[in-house]
Amino acid sequence: MASATASPPPSREPPTCKETAAICSPCCGGLFTLFAVILILYSVNKAYCHAKFSIQSITVSPVSDTWHVDFLVKNPSSRYSIYYEGDDAAVRFGSSNAAVLSTSQKRSSSSHTAFSLDFVAECNTSDVVAGVLEIKLRAKHKLYGLEPDDAGHVNVQCHNLTLNHENIDKIQLTIIENSANSCYLELFADTVSVSNANANARVSAAEWRIGFVARSPVTGCKISLRPIKSRLLRGDEVIAKSSSPSMDPFGQVVTGDETNVVFETVVAMPEVIGDVIWDIRVEIIAGVKTGIEYGNGFLLVFCGDIPVNFTADPAGNMIGSLLGNMRRCDYLYRDNLNPYLESLRS
Ligand SMILES: *[C@@H]1O[C@H](CO)[C@@H](O)[C@H](O)[C@H]1NC(C)=O
Ligand SMILES: *[C@@H]1O[C@H](CO)[C@@H](O)[C@H](O)[C@H]1NC(C)=O
Ligand SMILES: *[C@@H]1O[C@H](CO)[C@@H](O)[C@H](O)[C@H]1NC(C)=O
Repeated sequence: MASATASPPPSREPPTCKETAAICSPCCGGLFTLFAVILILYSVNKAYCHAKFSIQSITVSPVSDTWHVDFLVKNPSSRYSIYYEGDDAAVRFGSSNAAVLSTSQKRSSSSHTAFSLDFVAECNTSDVVAGVLEIKLRAKHKLYGLEPDDAGHVNVQCHNLTLNHENIDKIQLTIIENSANSCYLELFADTVSVSNANANARVSAAEWRIGFVARSPVTGCKISLRPIKSRLLRGDEVIAKSSSPSMDPFGQVVTGDETNVVFETVVAMPEVIGDVIWDIRVEIIAGVKTGIEYGNGFLLVFCGDIPVNFTADPAGNMIGSLLGNMRRCDYLYRDNLNPYLESLRS
């Protein structure tokens, strides 16, 4: 990750292109993550999803800019499960970021499920209607016999949304085949807390505390994460850095599957209470332990598009918190950080 390479000591050579590409490329990260499994002989299977989604209704609240979309889903074959509820559903709306506020489901018949989604979009309505609504939901593929089940996602794409049409033209189920001795890992930013470090100061320097949670759906591995070095970005601009005091990522400390990264004296607050900053990113190098043999390594984590809602606390100070559900992060897994160690120590 770039925090490892952004500021090498002057006496050292800058990182090679290859290293920089390896750690700075969220695109790659994104691609990889869908398929990433720790330690593994993984293979990815783009299964044909027999589920069929159709939109029943769309309502947009002009007051709160909140969208409510009702879907009717013809269930997939019984070997596939789609998880509509929970806090990990993700939405994108064209080029606009969006925050999922809630989801719900109801089995409406033996073959159909009613699913609804509430979200707030970054852009205003006229911008987004022409865009593609993309929804990502967790899924599972049940295998026969003693083989472990596979984890994955279903991605639903709806084009040219209008209030009366069913324009769902693409449903893709991505299933990651688990080998018996592997961990499937998903990582999320699940809390954000921004507060003015010194409310009396005229400068609006704040402390940003961002919580991450690692989950291992289906494979159920125990995971502990230990951030080593992190940076906070707004768009492409680095606004803060943070590093843990110890360089031994596999020391005795076991932090569990939740971890916080704290950035101090960050000068990034909106002008107005009530604003949302939609383009916060966090990049982290973390040590990861999974409890399975050879299951220790490093994650280069990329968490983009974290929306932070700024409101006022009872005393009138501006505070920030995560808008909507937790946000999925992308990551690359590395079994060692040797190429990055020198710059990590700096
Ligand atoms: C919404 O988007 C349109 C087109 O980009 C723009 O003209 C309009 O000013 C925007 N409205 C608001 C409230 O931002
Ligand atoms: C969406 O609308 C545009 C413009 O009306 C059209 O060119 C395009 O084919 C439509 N796409 C789908 C998937 O219907
Ligand atoms: C931001 O948080 C406040 C307080 O919880 C809430 O009333 C408001 O709707 C949120 N903003 C958005 C855009 O959802």
